[in-house]
Amino acid sequence: MKNTLARFSNSFLAIAALTMLSPTAQAQVIANPSLTGPVASGTAPIDWFAWQNTPDTVDAGGPFNNTGVPWTLSPDGGTFVRGGGSSLFPSSEAIGQNITGFTIGDTYQVFFFQTNLGFEHPPTGNWLGEDGYWELVVNGTPTDTSTVLTKPTVATDPIVWSTDTMTFVAPSTTVELAFVSRSSAALAAYMGIDGIHFVPVSPSVPEPSTALLAMGASLGLLAISRRNRN
Ligand SMILES: *[C@@H]1O[C@H](CO)[C@@H](O)[C@H](O)[C@H]1NC(C)=O
Ligand SMILES: *[C@@H]1O[C@H](CO)[C@@H](O)[C@H](O)[C@H]1NC(C)=O
Repeated sequence: MKNTLARFSNSFLAIAALTMLSPTAQAQVIANPSLTGPVASGTAPIDWFAWQNTPDTVDAGGPFNNTGVPWTLSPDGGTFVRGGGSSLFPSSEAIGQNITGFTIGDTYQVFFFQTNLGFEHPPTGNWLGEDGYWELVVNGTPTDTSTVLTKPTVATDPIVWSTDTMTFVAPSTTVELAFVSRSSAALAAYMGIDGIHFVPVSPSVPEPSTALLAMGASLGLLAISRRNRN
């Protein structure tokens, strides 16, 4: 009996420990998540700074809306940020914000809208751009990347926004977050981003070890109930 109880309490402790380890981070607040700001090239939105090079605050009228179709706003509306990014990290444009109130070691998730705008070179009419994505840099460390969006095939393709999330583990209580436009090619991808805010970390699919532990725990309980019946 003592042995069974000990085993039961061990399983209980294991489950309790796993529950405590699972991410329970509170959502943090990003200032100006809608990237609202005066429309201007080489200017970050209010409460954000140009973390690297010269990202643009734009609306449907540009600047740089050199495409065959009118730009579509993200579901977040208003202005958004356009950044040119390449495989060369230092050449890529980025916005950043310093945010406080994190719990060190907790996992956080940022949600945002992204699009690949493409770019028609004004004098030549050449359709430029590359497949591109956004990279999350936390306290200077590249940490996560968004889904790669293919460049619109032709200039007359519509501007399509999609949703994405990136996650990081807080290394400090105040965190410098940067969103860097990137491409895996040497030429620039012209990416749009908007509506950046924290969302609760979605419960992850249990790791095999967790699943096995849980299975072991239920087998243990089964054994106890069998034994009690016998
Ligand atoms: C770009 O925006 C300007 C207004 O700033 C507008 O006149 C022009 O038609 C737009 N270009 C495209 C391709 O929609
Ligand atoms: C943001 O934080 C970084 C790292 O501490 C610091 O170097 C930078 O000056 C801060 N930027 C602003 C605009 O406060």
